[in-house]
Amino acid sequence: MEKNNQLILALDVTEKNKALDVAEKVYEYVDAVKIGYPLVLKTGIGIIEDISSRVPVIADFKVADIPNTNRLICEQVFNSGADAVIVHGFTGRDSLDACVATANEYNRQVFVVADMSHPGATEFFQQVSEKIAKMSLDTGVSGVVAPATRTNSVENIRKIIGNELAIISPGVGAQGGSASDVINKGADWVITGRSIYQSDSPDTEAKKVVQEIKNRN
Ligand code: XMP
Repeated sequence: MEKNNQLILALDVTEKNKALDVAEKVYEYVDAVKIGYPLVLKTGIGIIEDISSRVPVIADFKVADIPNTNRLICEQVFNSGADAVIVHGFTGRDSLDACVATANEYNRQVFVVADMSHPGATEFFQQVSEKIAKMSLDTGVSGVVAPATRTNSVENIRKIIGNELAIISPGVGAQGGSASDVINKGADWVITGRSIYQSDSPDTEAKKVVQEIKNRN
């Protein structure tokens, strides 16, 4: 994934035509499209290939199983044409290693969830967030996911991982996070869904986020 506009679209619509329409409108503004369960479960895994012919696709399947099952899932993800997969780290190093080994076979990327953006993340996830960030170092992953809704977490995770790994950061827009703030705190990309795909003009909204990032102080 090339770092140009620093924006990743979370394409969580459930109709194929809507997905293709929104993607078509925003291709020029996004560095990647993130596709997860809502769209794939409704339309089928082929949607990944449809979109990845135009722009890199990050498959957000938050893979969290034993190593063998993680390997089998990642093989399907990469066979479908995805450029990267988002996986969980709380399942332990062996489970993560299985994802990375599979990604290496396909020359693809892995991102690890290091913290989450919703309020409930403070109940359990935050207590293991730093450990997951530390574990992610030296595993061969490309980066971690950290929340735009809590920029102190992004700042902290950036200190832990240094410049070795990228940070992709959801929570901008509908969840209240600011694109410019989280980039200033150390994120490499912001991930935005609803504020773009629910808009009457997804291209205008995507362009706004890109401009906000480029014009930030
Ligand atoms: P919205 O509509 O809130 O979409 O802009 C955000 C997208 O990002 C996903 N998401 C997360 N993924 N860690 C993740 O790995 C998180 O903390 C997180 N928060 C949101 C969400 O599923 C949606 O696709």
